Amino acid sequence: MTADLGHTDGGMDGMLLSRAEMTFNFAGARLEPARDREVLGWMMNQFLYGEITGIQIGHWLYQAPDIEAARFLARQAVEEFQHVDNFLRIMTLLGVSPAPAHPVLRFLATGMMGGSWAEHVALEMAAGEGFVLMCFYAIIDTLDQPRVVDILTRAVKQEERHVAFGEAQTMRVIDGRPWLRRRLLGLNLVSLWAVRRLARVMSTRLPQDSPVLRQLPQFLARVVASHELRMRRMGLLDVPLDRLSSVRRALLVAEAYVGKVLGAVVGLLLWPVGFVTGRRKRRLTDTYLSDPAIQKPAITDGQ
Ligand SMILES: [Fe+2]
Ligand SMILES: [Fe+2]
Repeated sequence: MTADLGHTDGGMDGMLLSRAEMTFNFAGARLEPARDREVLGWMMNQFLYGEITGIQIGHWLYQAPDIEAARFLARQAVEEFQHVDNFLRIMTLLGVSPAPAHPVLRFLATGMMGGSWAEHVALEMAAGEGFVLMCFYAIIDTLDQPRVVDILTRAVKQEERHVAFGEAQTMRVIDGRPWLRRRLLGLNLVSLWAVRRLARVMSTRLPQDSPVLRQLPQFLARVVASHELRMRRMGLLDVPLDRLSSVRRALLVAEAYVGKVLGAVVGLLLWPVGFVTGRRKRRLTDTYLSDPAIQKPAITDGQ
């Protein structure tokens, strides 16, 4: 190992990374609710979908390895559904409406749902919620809407705990299991591909007159670097990412993911078909936009 991996105990709420290590400096650029309404609306709808995927916790509660983990998940489920209400409140404050999430986001949050406890804690909690947390920090640091910033500031404390739990559980499951460590690394490489893909979508589909959005490529580089640091501190990765040859990456991904990716991509492609024909089991992640709780939320002021 040649990189300075730094301390591993200075993070927020037990995370392996500090907030500073998960923060990008936008150099004073601001998100302005009026000018950046379309960008903010798009982003909030991706977050809303992500919070709706809190239903997946039910699946993992059933597979929790011990009572402490089950108790954590039960509490997390309550928190994720509080976050749904948070985003509905934020959308009202920003004057934007619930709308469908982008397919790439659905792929990341649902299509690639973990197939085992190890995948869940490594990919959905340590990695996925880590990516989301960096976006929340970025919005808190740049958005000119104090009430929205207040709501997000409260939410990040909970997300930090979710990420810390994912990191700790990941380290536990890979201990003494090199094959699992390799597999989780391969899965993480695909997650990073999807995150880059999502950033490309944002660069091509959203208006670029926001000085924050114009820094998206640099922000993305920071997200990737932070995630690399997290993988190294968890022990998933023992060399810098750029030292992994493309052949090695391809082998890792193939070993870890080939069946899973194909299944998820086919599922993604067939999603509209299944949705229309009704042959696919419809879950909240399919129906939430027409749910009364989303259409006419009972949201109290201040939360
Ligand atoms: Fe959440
Ligand atoms: Fe969370």
